[in-house]
Amino acid sequence: MNALRDKTVVVIGGSSGIGLRVAQLVADEGARLLIVGRDTGRLQAAQADLQARGATVGIHQADAHDHTALASLFDELPAFDHLVSMIGDVMGGGFIGADIAVIRHVIESKFFTNLRIGQLAATKVREGGSLVFTSGTGGRAQDACASYVGNLGINALVEGLAVELAPKARVNAVSPTWTVTPFWRDVPPAQVEATRAHFEQVIPLKRTARIDELASAYLFLMNNGFVTGQHIAVDGGIMLGA
Ligand SMILES: NC(=O)c1ccc[n+]([C@@H]2O[C@H](COP(=O)([O-])OP(=O)(O)OC[C@H]3O[C@@H](n4cnc5c(N)ncnc54)[C@H](OP(=O)(O)O)[C@@H]3O)[C@@H](O)[C@H]2O)c1
Repeated sequence: MNALRDKTVVVIGGSSGIGLRVAQLVADEGARLLIVGRDTGRLQAAQADLQARGATVGIHQADAHDHTALASLFDELPAFDHLVSMIGDVMGGGFIGADIAVIRHVIESKFFTNLRIGQLAATKVREGGSLVFTSGTGGRAQDACASYVGNLGINALVEGLAVELAPKARVNAVSPTWTVTPFWRDVPPAQVEATRAHFEQVIPLKRTARIDELASAYLFLMNNGFVTGQHIAVDGGIMLGA
């Protein structure tokens, strides 16, 4: 029995990478999908992919960082059972040399945009549904300053929203660490490979994640009705290292 059959699932960031893989797994379970992204070509390609798997898929073009556009998006969305947010820009490096504007953007992206998504989603999520956000692990504060703060913000957000939305709906997050996905599309391939080799060394399990290991964690959090307020690290134990 597929718990997601005939459910409506919104994936903000469902046109690429981890979010697209979540959408594919959700489609295979028989859910209806609404996917959101900025790039129309990417959305249309994902829609064709998901329709080929037999899913009913609506696409919405919106930049989640524009909170007016976000409010219009939620005005258009029907009530839904589950929402996944893949939103969260990142940065590397420590606090001292960093540009405050970049720090502000990353915290705006990771915390305030997901906070706004949570506020808007609270009015549309159905009884028994869930929200799943995307946090992150891997960098220490001095290595990934605003990403680290933003991830702490998301982790606090899911705890607060979980209590505020209970018992109607559950709220959780998945925390990936560095993984090869199209997220790094603008980085030269040799640099991506060097970073992958670095993480392979520092992750206790001595490899980076397979995308299905990440995507399946989102489905677990949608399907398990007794988990709320949690952020699940799917990171090979990277934060346990020296
Ligand atoms: N890959 C990693 O190493 C890694 C590690 C830790 C955490 N994460 C987090 O995982 C999440 C997804 O990453 P990914 O690797 O799957 O990246 P990806 O392949 O680039 O996918 C990101 C998805 O989100 C959409 N998106 C991004 N910004 C958006 C915005 N402002 N408004 C609407 N849609 C937006 C993208 O579509 P458009 O670009 O067309 O808008 C795309 O569908 C991110 O939050 C990232 O920080 C990734």
